[in-house]
Amino acid sequence: MMFDSNYDLKDEGETLRLAENMASHLRPGMNLYLKGELGAGKTTFVRGLLRGLSYQDKVKSPTYTLVEPYNFDKFTIYHFDLYRFKDENEWDAAGFREYFNNLSICLVEWPEKAGHILPKPDISIELSHATLGRHLHLIGYSSIGAECLKAII
Ligand SMILES: Nc1ncnc2c1ncn2[C@@H]1O[C@H](COP(=O)(O)OP(=O)(O)O)[C@@H](O)[C@H]1O
Ligand SMILES: [Mg+2]
Repeated sequence: MMFDSNYDLKDEGETLRLAENMASHLRPGMNLYLKGELGAGKTTFVRGLLRGLSYQDKVKSPTYTLVEPYNFDKFTIYHFDLYRFKDENEWDAAGFREYFNNLSICLVEWPEKAGHILPKPDISIELSHATLGRHLHLIGYSSIGAECLKAII
């Protein structure tokens, strides 16, 4: 582990604000895992990241389609939700492997459902229920991931 940080987020607004703040420090090629039980706030965090990049429309949870793309000038964000992911053959058949490239940023909910077929994360975003709101543990595994976390104010 290269760098980690902890936050207490007392309501949805704080989750959104932290994610919006982080958005400006994302770089193409990054791979972010989002972990935590159902309702922990993973999709809310993705919504905050997209808002931070000035995306204003609805953010659909890609539970059935597995992935939703968002195009920006300098990169494409792929938001995966692998909760219903079962078939490893489907991964290559659907071309998902190619989504992880140096012009994309992949945000992956439920990465544990796809185990070893996923590339390693630059950052792990771990959300859990707290007495008041949510606890957030951010872990930067690569130098680019650690730099991103250090830049959050
Ligand atoms: N810091 C927070 N404190 C309390 N509730 C929160 C916080 N962040 C998000 N929420 C709420 O928790 C729920 C999380 O839902 P969602 O983001 O879809 O979770 P997940 O994708 O992990 O299943 C939403 O109703 C959201 O408003
Ligand atoms: Mg979700």
